[in-house]
Amino acid sequence: MALRIAVLASGSGSNLASILRGIEDGKLDGQVVLVLSNKPAAYALERAKAAGIATWARAHKEFASREEFDLALVRAIQDAGADTVVLAGYMRILTPAFVRAFPGRILNIHPAILPSFPGAHGGKDALDYGVRLTGATVHFVDEIMDNGPVIMQAAVPVRCDDTLETLMPRIQAMEHRIYPQALQWLAEDRLRVEGRQVRLLPPASGTPAASASCGENEHGPWMVSPALEKF
Ligand code: GRF
Repeated sequence: MALRIAVLASGSGSNLASILRGIEDGKLDGQVVLVLSNKPAAYALERAKAAGIATWARAHKEFASREEFDLALVRAIQDAGADTVVLAGYMRILTPAFVRAFPGRILNIHPAILPSFPGAHGGKDALDYGVRLTGATVHFVDEIMDNGPVIMQAAVPVRCDDTLETLMPRIQAMEHRIYPQALQWLAEDRLRVEGRQVRLLPPASGTPAASASCGENEHGPWMVSPALEKF
């Protein structure tokens, strides 16, 4: 079923752009109905406006509490008729009340292989630690930051001469493929959460082979699991 997506972003919005591209290319069955931000100057809002998408932006400091701010977000998302909430560089911890308002319908992307390097600086923390492989994770959101069940992950090798400036674009390039892919699986109603496991159901007939869902497809083994299908 086509998703009605609300995107929460605090920054540049390159993941928002990848989702819009997926929709425009006919690969992602959905519509972004609202882009919200706690940073009125976020470039993500400019991208939304350029695409003719409604925006909601309020500085969180204008609100008496974290709860009040989040309740305003919930109202705006509900008023827009969104059924799916996509965190795309939203740099603010959500309250339990927000998470409970959209059970099983909030996704996040994190620039590291969770559960390693959670938090606001996943990319830098992994590089500083000296890992040789890092990457990106798409996961369902629960009440603990960067903790919910993992939908998919992409691995990105760290080169010996990498700096944050050279590594992050390679991580983001994978983010821009796995986030729309995970959302398309949600649209196809193929994700089943069983405890911490997220099971990917085979595609309906007429789409690529069911074996694609276990980590390999006709393109060979990927360092993306489950394997990409369309992105
Ligand atoms: C991404 O790297 C994402 O993993 C993290 O914040 C960044 C947002 O980038 N949560 P953008 O605003 O989508 O360009």
